[in-house]
Amino acid sequence: MKTLEYTVYGKAPAVVERPTPQAAAGEVLVKVAGAALNPLDTKIHAGYMTAFFPVTFPYVPGTDISGTIESIGDGVSGWKTGDEIIARLDPSKGGAFAEFAIVPADQLVRAPNALPLAEIAGLVTVGGTAWQALFEEHAVASGQRILVHGAAGPVGAFATQLAVQAGAEVFATASAADVDYVHGLGAVKVIDYQNSRFEDELSDIDLVIDTVGGDVEERSLKVLKQGGTLIATPMPPDAARARKAGVEAKFVFHRSDAVRLGHVAECADHGAKVRLDRIVGLYEGADAFARQARGEAKGKIIFKPQL
Ligand SMILES: NC(=O)c1ccc[n+]([C@@H]2O[C@H](COP(=O)([O-])OP(=O)(O)OC[C@H]3O[C@@H](n4cnc5c(N)ncnc54)[C@H](OP(=O)(O)O)[C@@H]3O)[C@@H](O)[C@H]2O)c1
Repeated sequence: MKTLEYTVYGKAPAVVERPTPQAAAGEVLVKVAGAALNPLDTKIHAGYMTAFFPVTFPYVPGTDISGTIESIGDGVSGWKTGDEIIARLDPSKGGAFAEFAIVPADQLVRAPNALPLAEIAGLVTVGGTAWQALFEEHAVASGQRILVHGAAGPVGAFATQLAVQAGAEVFATASAADVDYVHGLGAVKVIDYQNSRFEDELSDIDLVIDTVGGDVEERSLKVLKQGGTLIATPMPPDAARARKAGVEAKFVFHRSDAVRLGHVAECADHGAKVRLDRIVGLYEGADAFARQARGEAKGKIIFKPQL
């Protein structure tokens, strides 16, 4: 099978032929339909994540897959060959950017029907992170006022849709070109961050989902109501500064969880979508990594190994 892999941090990933692996006990072999590229993949590639996700080389990157079960190891029940699945692989092991991937059976989730199978891979980490932030780190409920920063990015867009589905009143920031897109996700007000300051227009917010960081974090403390919460995805926020302002600030560190991913799949069946930047083959891997690392992707880059 073809894999996309690299042998040293920072080296451009390249396609290599490897023997197709066999599913051991408790595992299945999946024929990959789609595998989504995440900021985490480029951060691992740059060598920034060694403390959290040490890897061994050669490393086949990628955590988010959709595909069909090709074969089943001993002791796996409830699944059959041909079943369509989504799953998140352990970042330290990777393995998604390949024609076939080994998946532990306890990480398998039935693919939602709502999107083409290859594209569904794009909601795995994105949806899991948004769900974890909204419903595990917080308890989003109908009527809450929620501000999502970076709402046109994949995590922000999914968080916007999940919060809207939960009945929250969602405010958002995005660049001018994305204002209509974010309105289409259900946000009641979208602030063009390049031309307006959100803190001049908003107050009494129950929850801020910050997918941007930097000065956006500090400025967000001003729009939260007393006792409100900020949840950051790029890096841990300054919790002490938040406490001084009478609010709570915390980081969401997304971890794979098949039950949570099952909830995300249900949200996709209820209409939640992920924006597609482009679908590429494994041979375009080096360009795709560079595009993602430069921050140019408008949505998810999906690898389709058959291309
Ligand atoms: N902690 C975790 O477990 C976890 C999990 C998943 C992702 N993450 C992190 O979460 C972050 C977001 O991920 P993503 O995939 O959604 O990223 P992304 O594709 O980079 O999207 C970020 C979005 O933010 C917008 N943006 C940039 N500056 C802004 C500002 N000042 N105000 C409002 N919007 C702004 C960008 O718009 P323009 O491009 O138009 O400027 C873009 O639409 C990344 O840092 C990622 O590494 C963390």
